[in-house]
Amino acid sequence: MESRRPFIAGNWKMYKTLSEAVKTAEEMAELLRDIKDRDIMIAPPFTALAAVGEALRNSPVSLGAQNLYWESEGAYTGEISAAMLVSAGCRYVIIGHSERRQYFGETDEDVRRKIRAAVRENLRPVLCVGETESERDAKNTFSVLDKQVKNGLKDFVSDELKHLVLAYEPVWAIGTGKTASTEQVQEVHSRLRSLLGTLFGESFAAGLRILYGGSVKPENIGELMQMPDVDGALVGGASLKAAGFSKIVSY
Ligand code: PGA
Repeated sequence: MESRRPFIAGNWKMYKTLSEAVKTAEEMAELLRDIKDRDIMIAPPFTALAAVGEALRNSPVSLGAQNLYWESEGAYTGEISAAMLVSAGCRYVIIGHSERRQYFGETDEDVRRKIRAAVRENLRPVLCVGETESERDAKNTFSVLDKQVKNGLKDFVSDELKHLVLAYEPVWAIGTGKTASTEQVQEVHSRLRSLLGTLFGESFAAGLRILYGGSVKPENIGELMQMPDVDGALVGGASLKAAGFSKIVSY
């Protein structure tokens, strides 16, 4: 199990044409070139993966994808396999982002299959979980997260998940400017870590990196990272500009 080095990940979602993506990636590679003490990932849209990977070569920034399909190949028009992502230079893949769950109907079972496909190709999964505002208001936060984690990781053994990264992203905090309070984040992260301990053992849980996502910006990353169970961040909007993202990385 790897140590809990801080991990800052950027998710560009459906933003940036090829040339825009390459330009931002080149700026990031330059701004972040001397960073050694953290893991950094950028997940551009599929169309820019290979070119962004090229722009990030010899930089400390790794390439990630935002999604994948679980079959290894076949007649699945519009889909992208784990092996294709690896061949484009990806090291990580985001799985189960709430926008995929909300807008594209992804289920926990889909998420489980996608993690299986990633693991098969040695792609490191970044599994996203999070509750909606109404689930939080109804005090169902923990039961929702428990279910997402247990179902998404069903039938895995700890060895297969040694490169797993978990991201807690409360749906009500994504792209809304509303960040969860540091106390709310710490409470959930510590709860998730003990759940993972029950499922895969204490030493697995102690080494697992749990990122927070939802309106992370240069102004709030510092206090979030002070929480004992926050090991990094998954950043959407604020990862689109090289200068802002670099500030977050160097919090
Ligand atoms: P945000 O998105 O930083 O724009 O809130 C986070 C995410 O969706 O990963």
